[in-house]
Amino acid sequence: MKVFQHVSDIGDLKTALAEAFEIKENRFKYSELGKNKTALLIFFNNSLRTRLSTQKAAMNLGMNVIVLDVNQGAWKLETERGVIMDGDKSEHLLEAIPVMGSYCDIIGVRSFATFESRKDDYEEKILNQFIKYSGRPVFFMESATVHPLQSFADLITIEEYKRTPRPKVVLTWAPHPKALPQAVPNSFTQWMNAADVDFVITHPEDYELDPAFAGNARVEYDQMKAFEGADFIYAKNWSCPGVTRPEDYGKVLSKDMSWTVDARHMAVTNNAFFMHCLPVRRNMIVSDDVIEAPTSLVIPEAANREISATVVLKRMLQAL
Ligand code: CP
Repeated sequence: MKVFQHVSDIGDLKTALAEAFEIKENRFKYSELGKNKTALLIFFNNSLRTRLSTQKAAMNLGMNVIVLDVNQGAWKLETERGVIMDGDKSEHLLEAIPVMGSYCDIIGVRSFATFESRKDDYEEKILNQFIKYSGRPVFFMESATVHPLQSFADLITIEEYKRTPRPKVVLTWAPHPKALPQAVPNSFTQWMNAADVDFVITHPEDYELDPAFAGNARVEYDQMKAFEGADFIYAKNWSCPGVTRPEDYGKVLSKDMSWTVDARHMAVTNNAFFMHCLPVRRNMIVSDDVIEAPTSLVIPEAANREISATVVLKRMLQAL
């Protein structure tokens, strides 16, 4: 695997899940694979889970790890070509990327949507430059539009906890005070569309996800109706994807607190498990009682980030 961005990059999901459970059984099984290989993890944005779980995954495989927080100690980077660099940015990404590539064997990058331009965000302007100029395999640690390590961990978690062969999985929008990117819901939708589940998305009008990710997924605008009989509730906020009105891209169009997942919502489900990628704002996205219930999977879901990252790095090492 040279790039890990979309569900298609991991290939057959049953095979990927089997690999994940093999690693979960013995996470050090491939500890010789990464000997004398270096993973460089580059963060343009904050992280707790991705930073720790991906470092742990690399260590499971015997790799050396370098972590770079671009905004803390590195030179400020210019990303646009043709700019006269007479401001506060000392280095251009076009030099910085191949230099970073020269110090490692595999690169992971986190770079969120900026909301300055829907076109630039959805064209993955930053990550594509890493793919083009680093000379190394690149895996996405949450980009402008996708978060595949999270979605793979989510799929592993659903597979572990499902009580029926084809569970009903509901992705629900929930309110948040700030504008958040669409990376998590985009990826989750892409992965659920590829998985053997009964998948439903629910959100207020004008929050439709980009068709490149939504595909033929069923959308139910009545949240309570969507929750009926659900086996898994996956809550997430996202800002307006700008599908129907591009000028609204990245805006917060609703803070409707009736969408907060609480006991009233969970009561109409099939005793559903609750999932969220974390970090989560309690009593905005989900009530205290729902996230603290025995059916809340947020901690095992986060723990599975180590497993998804180990599978991805293992595949990349095997392809070097
Ligand atoms: N879920 C997730 O990616 O968490 P972090 O932002 O803390 O890495």
